[in-house]
Amino acid sequence: MAESMKDDILEILLSEDEIKAKISELGAQITRDYEGKTPFFLGVLKGCFVFMADLLRCVDLQCTMDFMAVSSYGGGTSTTGAVRITKDLTRDIEGKDVIIVADILDSGVTLSYLKKYLENRTPASIRIVTLLDKPARRRADIKADYCGFSVPDEFVVGFGLDYAEQYRNLPYIGILKPEIYSR
Ligand code: IMP
Ligand code: MG
Repeated sequence: MAESMKDDILEILLSEDEIKAKISELGAQITRDYEGKTPFFLGVLKGCFVFMADLLRCVDLQCTMDFMAVSSYGGGTSTTGAVRITKDLTRDIEGKDVIIVADILDSGVTLSYLKKYLENRTPASIRIVTLLDKPARRRADIKADYCGFSVPDEFVVGFGLDYAEQYRNLPYIGILKPEIYSR
């Protein structure tokens, strides 16, 4: 029988239940904060896709959404520092209340680049919601307005986050076994 993807996980850092509960809190908070507004959720692909799908179903507001894709990594486990937009917005964001939806705020290079890029298009406001924050690795001066969990300086996968494009479909957040990187 083929080896299970779950056998590659050293430790489950955040369980499905913990993540689910936190996402409903975040959704409720955004619902309160944006009462009377029609926020525009902008997901940062690909890592955001699981979190965003769950988060938006916990937001009880009229809203719109779109995706952008940026890449700052080669195939490795840390940012190269150079951010490239590989999929741009399809609509104008002028005057909109933009909420950037991200999987993780790590060095912060990607999101600070993206935030500046979007600010130039004069939205009414921009906030950031991230599922995970790894403050120990921050290089850019940027903070999330809404954050699910602060995580230690470990490379994590699952719930949208990948290692070499795999493990995004794990239903929880886990730490990979070190031997996976050296294979
Ligand atoms: P930053 O520019 O260093 O903040 O990198 C942000 C991007 O790096 C995220 O959107 C993720 O795609 C990726 N990333 C950073 N840390 C991790 C991790 O622990 N696991 C998986 N991907 C990560
Ligand atoms: Mg990645």
